[in-house]
Amino acid sequence: MAEVLKVLTCLFIIMFQKKGNVMEFIVLLYDSIVIQYKDTLKLAVPSLIYTLQNNLQYVAISNLPAATFQVTYQLKILTTALFSVLMLRKSLSRIQWVSLLLLFTGVAVVQVEQEGKQKESTVTGTSQNYAKGLLAVIVSCLSSGFAGVYFEKILKGSSASVWMRNIQLGIFGIVLGLLGMWWNDGLAITEKGFLFGYTPIVWGVIFNQAFGGLLVAVVVKYADNILKGFATSFSIIVSTVVSVYLFGFHVDLLFTLGAGLVIGAVYMYSLPKAAAPSPSTPTHSSSSHNLSDSAGDSEMDAFLPKTPGKEKGC
Ligand code: C5P
Repeated sequence: MAEVLKVLTCLFIIMFQKKGNVMEFIVLLYDSIVIQYKDTLKLAVPSLIYTLQNNLQYVAISNLPAATFQVTYQLKILTTALFSVLMLRKSLSRIQWVSLLLLFTGVAVVQVEQEGKQKESTVTGTSQNYAKGLLAVIVSCLSSGFAGVYFEKILKGSSASVWMRNIQLGIFGIVLGLLGMWWNDGLAITEKGFLFGYTPIVWGVIFNQAFGGLLVAVVVKYADNILKGFATSFSIIVSTVVSVYLFGFHVDLLFTLGAGLVIGAVYMYSLPKAAAPSPSTPTHSSSSHNLSDSAGDSEMDAFLPKTPGKEKGC
């Protein structure tokens, strides 16, 4: 359902961009999805991996305490950097690698602090299988890094819009989801109907997944996966600080340490920007790693806004 919602939203946006011209809309869809079927097929890879990842996360969260899951899942910050270097040929300076490690440590510290607070109230189910949960979350980290970077490569390697790419991604997502659904719950669905058990909370998860997913795509398009990691980490800190006001959350030493590490990491990662030399000056990190115009931004301008002229057809 999340994939269906995403595809419908993207269709609506494209229709809006075409100012309601149905003919142009259909021609564009036909051309992008059917004529350029090779491009469409490329999206099967991240779609399959994301479908596995999204399901593995349910395995992980059912078998691990929530905070343990959150901490371990932050390893994706490092796998993402690794895949960005391997697949997009991004070159990160030593200081940026250190900042990624600090980022991971900072988020982990905050999550451990949260876990400590929740420990008394957490009932650890006897049905939880720690090893199974850990394996699921580690595979999810690898999958998150790979699928994210693969999607970034596709997105920035062509002129198709982010909305069209998400429709292509969603088509596979829907097919795979339907197959999984039929395989796991086919009989129950035949008996009780497709929408059985769709409580408001389930719809909440679906909306969160669909619009969160689209947001991820836009972030990857205009920035990159590594910056997505920073943004997510920062959001953990911001949301915790907001809970001070909303829920009387108490900021203690461990939280301050974790937040400090995250903020320090953000600062460190952006440091080379300040030292950016003129274009004529070669540096160790100057971009020999161009994938396309926007993908090839060096880490020097990691935090610089992208100029509209550099973007293609979103
Ligand atoms: O944890 P991570 O950042 O890898 O999660 C990305 C999430 O965004 C996944 O749940 C994936 O299904 C979703 N996504 C999406 N559409 C995209 C890219 C990612 O729904 N184009």
